[in-house]
Amino acid sequence: MSNQYRHEPVLLEETVNLLVTDNDGLYVDATVGMGGHSAKILSKLGRQGKLIGFDWDPEMVNISKNNLSSYGDKVKIIGTNFSNMEEIFKREGIFNISGILFDLGVSSLHFDKPQRGFSFKHEGPLDMRINPANPLTAHTIINKWPYEQIEHLIRICGERFSHKIAKAICERREKKEFETTTELRNVIEEVLPKTNRKSNPATKTFLALRVAVNYEFENLTKGIQKGGQFLAPGGRMAIITFHSLEDRIVKETFQFMSRMGGWKLITKKPVIPAETEINSNNRSRSAKLRVIEKVK
Ligand SMILES: C[S@@+](CC[C@H](N)C(=O)[O-])C[C@H]1O[C@@H](n2cnc3c(N)ncnc32)[C@H](O)[C@@H]1O
Repeated sequence: MSNQYRHEPVLLEETVNLLVTDNDGLYVDATVGMGGHSAKILSKLGRQGKLIGFDWDPEMVNISKNNLSSYGDKVKIIGTNFSNMEEIFKREGIFNISGILFDLGVSSLHFDKPQRGFSFKHEGPLDMRINPANPLTAHTIINKWPYEQIEHLIRICGERFSHKIAKAICERREKKEFETTTELRNVIEEVLPKTNRKSNPATKTFLALRVAVNYEFENLTKGIQKGGQFLAPGGRMAIITFHSLEDRIVKETFQFMSRMGGWKLITKKPVIPAETEINSNNRSRSAKLRVIEKVK
């Protein structure tokens, strides 16, 4: 059933070529998803090489286990938030990792499956949880958070009309609670006419909700810090981002690390997809890859 959904791995060749420097090393895919990047990494590894994959979504854990089963005991998939990797590494006796990959955000499955509530393109519940055990949902934010908090959240995620949108949300919920993605989209479209816009007026609000529901910035900051501690000298960290706020965190953190010493920037500028990739996978259009190496 899961296989009806596909996810095209972004910047696949570029990422794996920059990440894998030791064919017999231990690699961590912190966001294994459907296993596209992991399969490519595994295909490059020699006899000693191994990969550990994390995903916070139990559904993705099952899919990746299935998709990577032909690699046998060269691969181990663990269902966890990557911000908990320190505990996992200690439990598994892991250190001296050769490379760690973060391919951030959510998978195409999350957007394409209406019942997960990530997309304004499909009618679904206002959910947006990567892990369904997470207590916070988009429904809670939209129906319960005060105006100021909603306005601030949408604004920091780049929405110029955050006041208008937050006001419209708060007025509408006085009459009736929001239940679905379509209801939210309709309210946003009513206050922000679509004219002259490249993307749907609900795009940034939906992104902001997803980021908040899943603590995405907090997880990223923790992930970089923890992952860095467990890298072997010469080991690399590769991060693929899909929006400017996330990219800014990675860019500034990597610059800070290289200034402090002990780290070397491998990508002075982010690697972006070639036109051919963007033409065949529209989702890749905003991807940026940055790589840093622990100095030997
Ligand atoms: C862009 S997809 C990765 C796709 C993957 N590279 C592939 O080729 O299939 C991001 C994945 O990261 C997972 N994820 C997001 N935040 C996470 C977190 N904090 N910890 C672990 N997994 C996370 C999502 O569930 C999703 O499956």
